[in-house]
Amino acid sequence: MIERFPTVTVVDHPLVQHKLTLLRERATSTASFRQIAREISLLLCYEVTRDLPLTEVEIDTPLERTRAPQLAGKKLCFVPILRAGNGILDGMLEAVPSARVGHIGLYRDPKTLAPVEYYLKLPEDVRERLVIVVDPMLATGHSLAAGVTRLKQAGAAQIKVVCLIAAPEGLAVFTAEHPDVPVFLAAIDRELDSHGYIRPGLGDAGDRLYGTK
Ligand code: URA
Repeated sequence: MIERFPTVTVVDHPLVQHKLTLLRERATSTASFRQIAREISLLLCYEVTRDLPLTEVEIDTPLERTRAPQLAGKKLCFVPILRAGNGILDGMLEAVPSARVGHIGLYRDPKTLAPVEYYLKLPEDVRERLVIVVDPMLATGHSLAAGVTRLKQAGAAQIKVVCLIAAPEGLAVFTAEHPDVPVFLAAIDRELDSHGYIRPGLGDAGDRLYGTK
């Protein structure tokens, strides 16, 4: 927990920090970037699901009948914010293969700068699931905040967010708008620059994942 941002957890596990450094390195190839994004998101998934409720069930081991823990209730729903969010979805699904996946697409209107939704598809029972929104870069915080507002309107009642890197400015915007939504990150960087990039950051996450420019 960060004093300035009480709803934010920075995952300081050495493997997460090491992999994040590899992602930041400009010489990291597209193929490696994709692979490392997958690995780091699996580790972040482990942290964001740490407090999932368990229930006890009766099972038969090869030797005897016993009681053992299993996840309680409906499984999760991951919601990547298109397009870069897809780059940290696969690692999450490796950790929780039975999760449902929703998608949300937003773009910024060039005139008003307001986020505009162009795509939304969620499971029908989204209100009964823990929704984990994934987006690698929390930059201005406006589209993530708009995406979470939209998910709440669609009925999502329990929401968490996983990002790789946040700018302090964007975290301030997001946490002010959604103080009820825990955020899990690998790092909070120094600042947002005048072009909307996080510094030192890792560049454009979507471009690095998909080899576009
Ligand atoms: N989106 C990115 O992909 N990178 C940034 O630095 C900011 C927003």
